[in-house]
Amino acid sequence: MTSKLNTLDEKKAEALLGGGQKRIDAQHKKGKLTARERIHFLMDEGSFEEIGMLVTHRSNDFGLEKEKYLGDGVVTGYGTVNGRLVYIFSQDFTVFGGSLSETHAEKICKIMDLAMQNGAPVIGLNDSGGARIQEGVVSLGGYADIFYRNVRSSGVIPQLSAIMGPCAGGAVYSPAMTDFILMVENTSYMFVTGPNVVKTVTHEEVTSEELGGAMTHATKSGVTHFACANEIEAINHVKQLLSYMPQNCEEDAPSVPYEMGNEIRTQLNSIIPDNANQPYDMREVIEGTIDENSFLEVHKHFAENIVVGFARLAGKSIGIVANQPAVLAGVLDINSSTKAARFVRFCDSFNIPLLVFEDVPGFLPGTDQEWNAIITNGAKLLYAFSEATVPRITVITRKAYGGAYDVMNSKHIGADMNYAWPSAEIAVMGAKGAAEIIFKGEISTAKDKDAKWKEKEAEYQAMFANPYRAAERGFIDEVIKPEETRMKLIRAFKMLENKVDQLPKKKHGNIPL
Ligand code: HXC
Repeated sequence: MTSKLNTLDEKKAEALLGGGQKRIDAQHKKGKLTARERIHFLMDEGSFEEIGMLVTHRSNDFGLEKEKYLGDGVVTGYGTVNGRLVYIFSQDFTVFGGSLSETHAEKICKIMDLAMQNGAPVIGLNDSGGARIQEGVVSLGGYADIFYRNVRSSGVIPQLSAIMGPCAGGAVYSPAMTDFILMVENTSYMFVTGPNVVKTVTHEEVTSEELGGAMTHATKSGVTHFACANEIEAINHVKQLLSYMPQNCEEDAPSVPYEMGNEIRTQLNSIIPDNANQPYDMREVIEGTIDENSFLEVHKHFAENIVVGFARLAGKSIGIVANQPAVLAGVLDINSSTKAARFVRFCDSFNIPLLVFEDVPGFLPGTDQEWNAIITNGAKLLYAFSEATVPRITVITRKAYGGAYDVMNSKHIGADMNYAWPSAEIAVMGAKGAAEIIFKGEISTAKDKDAKWKEKEAEYQAMFANPYRAAERGFIDEVIKPEETRMKLIRAFKMLENKVDQLPKKKHGNIPL
């Protein structure tokens, strides 16, 4: 027996070394952790159970039969993060560059199947040269097996992808179909075709970092939700993200213990400037309302005219969508609509109540927006809110103009409670533009056109630049003082805790993609 035990120990020790010490050293030299080190930092100490440690590839082409590594380039298993079950795969760049072979794909699929059957999140730590080139179509098939499972799992269990190295070619589509992507600055990149192909086809000279680095995808494309300074920061973000999510779509979002105290927040009274055209930072409203230090902003650097993220209110998980008057006056455009729509759909999939702070002057005009389909893209946000069945509350802090009033979780599209601050202006458009249109005749024949214009603008302002017309109709449930916001929200979300709402029976809707 002793020799048999020794054999097992030897095999395990061999597996732990992946592609060997030399390649591990090379990985460290690049500023990257190994697949196992990443798991070590992510999982609760001693909780990781590995599955498939002794798996090897089956290829005999190009001399591969002479080069086998136990585990075949991916470490898979399960364990806990902050005491909660998760399934994980972590690609090992020291084995054939983390490339995906038939068996490597099978290991990932096994984890994904277990996660679906047992209702717990899947975390992918990606660091791979793509398809195992020596295996050809077998590897492509392996990718498709993963893609298929990504889609089947979508909305059932949370799926998170941390990109810790290369991720190129069709391989990018697995992370793209998961709920959140995190990238590490300077050591990770994602693109469908790399710089060399780009140069050949479009004659553009671009580096990997410029083409598909973390900041590129965080700011320009919005592909990644987080750009992290290093791998440890990325791992910590994964842990934090998980803390707001339920294990699966059948469970409620988690909460932390909270004791009610004085919930009045007087600092909220002085955020809105006297001049309605002056910007302010909506993050101050968010931070002033939620539990202290509970905000995790998602997509921080992309479409900054809208702010989305997770927070806690009286210990309960919520998703926040807020126009940002400090950027482009908080206008809705293509990117902000798609960013918010995706976030709303995630929260609705996983029973996370939604809180909306609204200050929006309308949709962004212009040929760029129209020709790139602001109609279809703006409709995504309208669609996402309309189909969401989680508790939904809106607070209008200032402007709620035009179609954007309807879109931003209005009563009419199913919001449960709609509050407005006294500074709210709920109207078809701003007073200046409105006066120009509806009093055009009167102004043009007046002796003093400027004075007439100002008079008519003031008239419209007095009539509509307030929350009371909407409150008279019941479109606003209550006009509240800013300082009361936190208390009102805590009570209203508590009141909505057992909300039951179901979509009509259907196969699935047809969101305007
Ligand atoms: C097999 C691979 C590999 C691959 C890298 N390696 N990529 N082995 N299949 N796809 C091996 C290398 O031979 C090397 O082995 C080790 O991994 C490390 O690679 P290096 O090139 O030395 O590392 P580095 O300089 O850091 O460059 C990493 C890299 C580069 C940028 C990823 O290796 C590269 O460009 N690889 C090919 C990428 C690619 O074209 N993949 C296919 C994409 S198409 P040794 O023995 O020296 O350690 C695709 C289709 C998916 O993926 C479609 C899904 C639908």
